[in-house]
Amino acid sequence: PRKIIIDTDPGQDDALAILLALASPELDVLGIVAVAGNIPLELTHTNIRKVCEVASRPDVKVYAGSVRPMVRQLVTAEHVHGETGLDGYDLPAPAMPLQTQGGVEFIIETLMREEPGTVTLCPLGPLTNIGMALVREPKIASRIKEIVLMGGGYFEGGNITPSAEFNIYVDPHAAEIVFGSGVPIVMMPLDVTHKVLTTEKRVSAMRGIGTRVGEVAAAWLEFFERFDEEKYGTDGGPLHDPNVIAYLIKPELYSGRHCNVEIETSSPLTIGETVVDWWGVTDREKNALFIKDVDADGFFSLLTERLATLPA
Ligand code: BDR
Ligand code: CA
Repeated sequence: PRKIIIDTDPGQDDALAILLALASPELDVLGIVAVAGNIPLELTHTNIRKVCEVASRPDVKVYAGSVRPMVRQLVTAEHVHGETGLDGYDLPAPAMPLQTQGGVEFIIETLMREEPGTVTLCPLGPLTNIGMALVREPKIASRIKEIVLMGGGYFEGGNITPSAEFNIYVDPHAAEIVFGSGVPIVMMPLDVTHKVLTTEKRVSAMRGIGTRVGEVAAAWLEFFERFDEEKYGTDGGPLHDPNVIAYLIKPELYSGRHCNVEIETSSPLTIGETVVDWWGVTDREKNALFIKDVDADGFFSLLTERLATLPA
């Protein structure tokens, strides 16, 4: 199986991404690192452990990473995810432990220990931990197989400002380090995640699994979609983070283009924008695969089938 580290700020969509990863034999989850983002750090590492317990996987190693972005003040998104970050289904406080090693140290140590080119990073929140790790130990850059991340947007505009997507906006300086690192990057921007809609039919298929996992997942989706559905007037809201994991399992569901992507870090108006050279009008290096299209039905079948394999 492909070795991955998930870096995340759950968030209902992060939670579904974690469940999908834990349900997929193609992936070996070496650890899950919490980052401050949708909600403060303490809630994110608590939520990760709640999700692992929903998946009956209290053995997964969970680490606490950065408490705030590299330069800017933390911006959170309780208006989207609720006060707990995982509103929609009440879960008990987790019994499984948080590892004592710091999340950034775990990322560095793992990459320096594992064979080069074998570990994939999957950031589902602000890129703070990855940026910090690259600054603290630049040698990791050439050892990372790939970074497959959810973040950014271009033709679709932004969701936290008119031009910025939340994850990149929260820590644009970390994003700049990551996109400038030379590590192969695949990005799942709003341009693709806004095509992955949680329609009523798809949510009821999730509930139709008939297990607690199915019920929890459906309840999370129903809470999470409320915000975006009202806003965008679509049938269901967009589902973001699980696309990262689905891409690792079934890349044929997705298509995009290799482009140069740069991060705006100083303009007060457009800070956090991912500037994508889609038409190749510069000779800047093509540093990312910008995913733009998806087989959304294929995605939801995969998600639902896999969640159905988790223990009831
Ligand atoms: C991203 O922001 C968060 O609210 C979601 O979990 C996702 O990672 C979408 O912009
Ligand atoms: Ca997230």
